[in-house]
Amino acid sequence: MSISTASQIRIFDTPEQLAHQVADWTVEQASKSGARFALCLSGGETPKRLYELLATPAYQARIPWDRTHCFWGDERVVPHDDPQSNYHMAWEALLRHVPIPAENIHAIPTEHMSPAAGAAAYATTLKRFYGADTLDSRRPLFDIMLLGLGEDGHTASLFPGSPTLTETERWVVPVMGETPPDRITLTYPVLASSRVTAFLVAGEGKRDALARVRAGDPALPASRVQSAGEIYWFIDRAAAAAPAFSRV
Ligand code: 6PG
Repeated sequence: MSISTASQIRIFDTPEQLAHQVADWTVEQASKSGARFALCLSGGETPKRLYELLATPAYQARIPWDRTHCFWGDERVVPHDDPQSNYHMAWEALLRHVPIPAENIHAIPTEHMSPAAGAAAYATTLKRFYGADTLDSRRPLFDIMLLGLGEDGHTASLFPGSPTLTETERWVVPVMGETPPDRITLTYPVLASSRVTAFLVAGEGKRDALARVRAGDPALPASRVQSAGEIYWFIDRAAAAAPAFSRV
């Protein structure tokens, strides 16, 4: 269960405070990383302010960009310059402003190939970076896995009732016919291969989904996220106003 007593739950009055706290936390995690700092980014709106902050001089100088590698937990099957693209959002908010080597930016391929081919190509990219074809829980692929929460309880592009929820072999899969546009997503075993995992959740619209995840509702994909390390929930007051969080 992704929100258990073992989880770190941190609630902030505003999304701005949340973004600043996660930026500080990201710097702290980077200082604990080894030769490479592997950051798996999430899409959607909530992490955008975090990305903008990490690009500011105050934070930029505290991240080892030369040994930082950026990946994505999921992507919309649109060109990388499309406003709906998770790559595009992170590029505009963060990556084009910081001295990260171009070869350290590992975007999910969405152009000139089918979503299935894009998923397979990205699995190859991840395995090449990892240096093996099977994951070892003692050696997580990522240092940080950033995730969001949809109002229906989806995370990355793992949607309620989707066959992708039971995938245990493939590292990356196409997601067709859920919410348009089609998507490509990492699967649960790969999402779990992270030294730490952080959910960023803001806004009243997330209150019900958050309460259900807190109650361990298995119908919500976010409830079933595991991690090789600790799971942090960074939540704003508007989302955490559910009784389930009254004692936090
Ligand atoms: C995506 C995301 C998705 C997102 C949630 C929350 O591609 O949309 O990866 O899982 O994190 O939908 O999105 P918001 O932060 O925009 O509410």
